[in-house]
Amino acid sequence: MTPAPAMPASGNGGPSLAIRCGGIDFHNPVLTASGTFGYGKEFAGLLPLASLGGLVTKGISPNPRFGNPAPRICETAAGMLNSIGLENVGLEGFAAEKLPFLRTCGTKVLVNFFGTTFDEYVECGQRLGQLEGVDGLEMNVSCPNIKAGGIEFGRDPRVLGELVRACRNVIAKPLWVKLTPNTSDIVLLARACAENGADAVSVINTIGGMAIDAHTRRPRLATVFGGLSGPAIKPVALRMVYQIHRAGLGIPICGIGGIQSGIDAVEFFLAGASTVQVGTQNFIDPASSERVVREVEDFCRANGVTDLREIVGGLVV
Ligand SMILES: Cc1cc2nc3c(=O)[nH]c(=O)nc-3n(C[C@H](O)[C@H](O)[C@H](O)COP(=O)(O)O)c2cc1C
Repeated sequence: MTPAPAMPASGNGGPSLAIRCGGIDFHNPVLTASGTFGYGKEFAGLLPLASLGGLVTKGISPNPRFGNPAPRICETAAGMLNSIGLENVGLEGFAAEKLPFLRTCGTKVLVNFFGTTFDEYVECGQRLGQLEGVDGLEMNVSCPNIKAGGIEFGRDPRVLGELVRACRNVIAKPLWVKLTPNTSDIVLLARACAENGADAVSVINTIGGMAIDAHTRRPRLATVFGGLSGPAIKPVALRMVYQIHRAGLGIPICGIGGIQSGIDAVEFFLAGASTVQVGTQNFIDPASSERVVREVEDFCRANGVTDLREIVGGLVV
């Protein structure tokens, strides 16, 4: 892994946006979120991928998945619900068809992954971690644990800790864990990750929700329940990032949830995140993540911030 050059994002004497987070050196702190940016290539003609700090792929499982029946997306006030059902090309399809392009994309590549059993998580994480061109892994623990009656792996701190430990033992590359907000105590979940060897936590995944069509009296999603994302969830995400930061666990945080602008990203940095991911906004404006980088830089320049690290955790309470 080559360290990020300590240079301004613009290369013209502006603020330095270079930052280390979760064992990876990024040339700027803006990544794109899993499931909202395909496998990177789909967006290559829409923005220069090298302008991003990194990208996170669609979640990969050991075998290909077709996902849930339609309708599996619906718009809500200030956001959207999805029940895609983790559709993906599977481990070997990813390695053969998607990774060759990603090796050339000029930005850091994190591969999001999951399993439906403990063994699947370990198998998938181990194999992905061995692939050249993968800079780090992001483990999605918001997947139903079949053996435990469908409860998300990431909801129980004990189960989560065991899963992180099992994966850590077989993955040498940076391992990030993406936390579910569907919990009453996010700090307990972050602590389970920190104590079991995770390099960073990504905060947050979608919030469970549903939508109803009053006229047909039917749910708007075929699976009834889905995950809420977009600006509607930003206050929840900020709260959780800040709670984890304030707990002083020493684990870096990647902030996710409703980011539309550079100012939104700065709010996450102040709350304690050292990187951020842009998700739902990619559906509105596919080039928005590049704009977010520029706006973070503009904010720093306008506010006398010469190095992004000056504002991480800088919330004045
Ligand atoms: C259509 C869609 C698909 C997603 N797929 C995944 C996924 O495969 N793995 C994952 O960890 N998160 C997935 N997410 C969650 C996002 O990565 C992100 O955590 C969430 O949408 C909150 O960020 P946002 O408000 O900026 O969209 C998905 C979100 C959406 C909207």
